[in-house]
Amino acid sequence: MIELRDLEGADAQRLYDWRRDSEVDRWMYKLPPASFEAHQTWLDRFLTDPDRVGWVILADKQPVGLLTLTGLTGMLMRGQWGWYIGDAAARGRGAGRAAQALGLDKAFGEHGLQKVWSEVLADNETALKAQAAAGFLREGYLRRHAYKHGEYHDVVLLAILADEWAARRPAVMKNLKASGLIAP
Ligand SMILES: CC(C)(COP(=O)(O)OP(=O)(O)OC[C@H]1O[C@@H](n2cnc3c(N)ncnc32)[C@H](O)[C@@H]1OP(=O)(O)O)[C@@H](O)C(=O)NCCC(=O)NCCS
Repeated sequence: MIELRDLEGADAQRLYDWRRDSEVDRWMYKLPPASFEAHQTWLDRFLTDPDRVGWVILADKQPVGLLTLTGLTGMLMRGQWGWYIGDAAARGRGAGRAAQALGLDKAFGEHGLQKVWSEVLADNETALKAQAAAGFLREGYLRRHAYKHGEYHDVVLLAILADEWAARRPAVMKNLKASGLIAP
């Protein structure tokens, strides 16, 4: 069963380990934190920033990943999505898709956003497929938009609007419930 709980200070070490995992890092725009102290500074700022919110993804009550939204205080009411499953054993089993649905409910419900958008490296097929399954649409393609470890990467812009999620939600939730991934 997949659930979300609020990100907290006690998650510092697990986030540090997940973010430095090569299978997570390879799909991130930025370099991983250079030290635990740098990571702690980032987390402390994150947790006190009203513009951002984070949730830890739980699978059967165990922390397996992170979901973040940035842009909560903006007048445009759109949030940027960030996510990863840090626990390698939990990837490819539906946890990401279930967390995504729960996160979109929070984004459009609790946080009253009208749009959620994300930037995905163009060769991240897992993320592109998972986000398309929730109804994210492709809004743009940015050539050589990221540069990391000596290589340029193209980036796909994805987004979903509040009314699009409202229309898509019943089918997505039905599927996740039938799979036992979220509570009936
Ligand atoms: C991208 C990411 C968050 C997706 O999460 P995930 O849990 O691995 O993805 P899911 O398990 O939800 O979906 C992946 C596959 O599992 C399948 N799956 C397995 N069991 C499933 C179930 N019970 N219900 C639904 N889908 C299931 C999905 O159909 C999908 O397969 P497909 O792509 O062949 O259609 C995760 O792979 C990840 O963290 N990757 C590394 C970091 C990253 O890329 N982050 C995103 C940056 S934009």
